Amino acid sequence: MPYIFSAVIGYLLGSISFSYLVGRYKAGIDIREHGSGNAGATNTLRVLGKQSALIVFLADALKGVMSVAAGYLLTGTDAGMAIGGLFSIIGHNWPLFFNFRGGKGVATTIGVVVSVVFLPGIIAGIIAIILLVISRIVSLASLIFLTILPIAVLLTGQPLVYFWMSLAMAVMAYWRHRTNIVRLIQGKENRLGRK
Ligand code: G3P
Repeated sequence: MPYIFSAVIGYLLGSISFSYLVGRYKAGIDIREHGSGNAGATNTLRVLGKQSALIVFLADALKGVMSVAAGYLLTGTDAGMAIGGLFSIIGHNWPLFFNFRGGKGVATTIGVVVSVVFLPGIIAGIIAIILLVISRIVSLASLIFLTILPIAVLLTGQPLVYFWMSLAMAVMAYWRHRTNIVRLIQGKENRLGRK
């Protein structure tokens, strides 16, 4: 039962779409009707600017942190934290409160990763940031981060449950980035700083 509660709390926390709320509050818009149409920090940067994007990124990441904390308090186990974290990403991607139309889960994933697998997160994060600086393509950096993460989790000897967690995160990220992947292959993906 505590594991089910971890999942439910994670899902409900994840379902709070901060990019939608900031878009509504700051500009009276539905962020999902603008830019890439994604309810996330990158699209908030595109549509509403740096300050709003930073708020969305931190708040979306915090959902992941809080869901892991809830999993810990309810179960006291690695599996409970992994379940809480995973379900916060599911909530972010398919939010209960916003017609199940959410984001791609990257900021929330980062919140979960720094909470439970910090070292592998840093390794994958440094490589992704270097790629982001070179390419200025957030989706590419996000996908590389999620691809390296499960490998880094294994190589740094984390509990096996976090390997399965990061693999599930990677599968969800690839699924949610389908349209980005098509644009990447076509060489048409959005770059930061370009309209
Ligand atoms: O975090 C989502 C990012 O990887 C891509 O966002 O808006 O460019 O599709 P976007």
